[in-house]
Amino acid sequence: MAAKLIKGTEIREEILEEIASEVSEIKEKKGVVPGLVTILVGENPASISYVTLKIKTANRLGFKEIQDNQPADIPEQDLLALIDKYNKDDSIHGILVQLPLPKHVDEKKVLNAIDPDKDVDGFHPVNVGRLMIGGSEVKYPPCTPAGIQELIVRSGVETKGAEVVVVGRSNIVGKPIANMMLQKGPGANSTVTVVHTSTKDMASHCQRADILIVAAGVPGLVKPEWIKPGACVIDVGVNRVGEKISEKTGQKVAILKGDVDFDAAKEIAGWITPVPGGVGPMTITMLMQNTLKALKFKLGIA
Ligand code: GUN
Repeated sequence: MAAKLIKGTEIREEILEEIASEVSEIKEKKGVVPGLVTILVGENPASISYVTLKIKTANRLGFKEIQDNQPADIPEQDLLALIDKYNKDDSIHGILVQLPLPKHVDEKKVLNAIDPDKDVDGFHPVNVGRLMIGGSEVKYPPCTPAGIQELIVRSGVETKGAEVVVVGRSNIVGKPIANMMLQKGPGANSTVTVVHTSTKDMASHCQRADILIVAAGVPGLVKPEWIKPGACVIDVGVNRVGEKISEKTGQKVAILKGDVDFDAAKEIAGWITPVPGGVGPMTITMLMQNTLKALKFKLGIA
């Protein structure tokens, strides 16, 4: 294998240790801990496993963690009232509403109801705007793009002047990571191209990339011949392509495949993220980072 493996599971541990030591220092000096509420509506199995991991991580770091589970048929008005309650709660610094929401609820309305200063997901239009302006305006970068940037920087990949190609234009990954990588500043300063379903020749753009970030949700979309030798390849795809019995637990687990043909790509790239164990572990880590930031903003020490 030519490429260096970018191990999200190891980088996660580094960052969580940094967060834990800041949390205990603030607790000792100021007597407060970060407070995070996660609102889960209904019983979507993927959401439940995601939320369970969030709770575990928040507890490990010594956060105040509230898990607020609501029935799938909760009226929209009741959900908005619940958000308003946590907006006013001084012990809560971060509010997260797990997506997707049931069809009868207007997702936009719900996300817009969260106080932008408690929006640790970074999905509120105010925080999207702050991210677009960049620099000291940015409060809460969205968690998956923030995790991608950490993986690139902590792996020692040069971003200044690099050709970055982003595959996919979602609001959660593609658009924000493209915006973050073009900002003037450390870990960015790149020349960015975004390709998508209407791009004429996706391969030719990808072949130019020093850093290729793929968030398309299409298993194996990126072929080895699309990769420039020595490039840094970040695979955000988490595609469930089947099921298997786990050797560890004996339980049925999903077989996950990325958007990049990993086995072939690893022989060409300079760096590559595996799926699972690459970008995945970073999202919750950056959520914890944002929640700590929210407390620090409140205390005036950010
Ligand atoms: N569902 C899947 N990923 C996310 C995320 O990062 N934030 C929220 N709120 N919901 C999600």
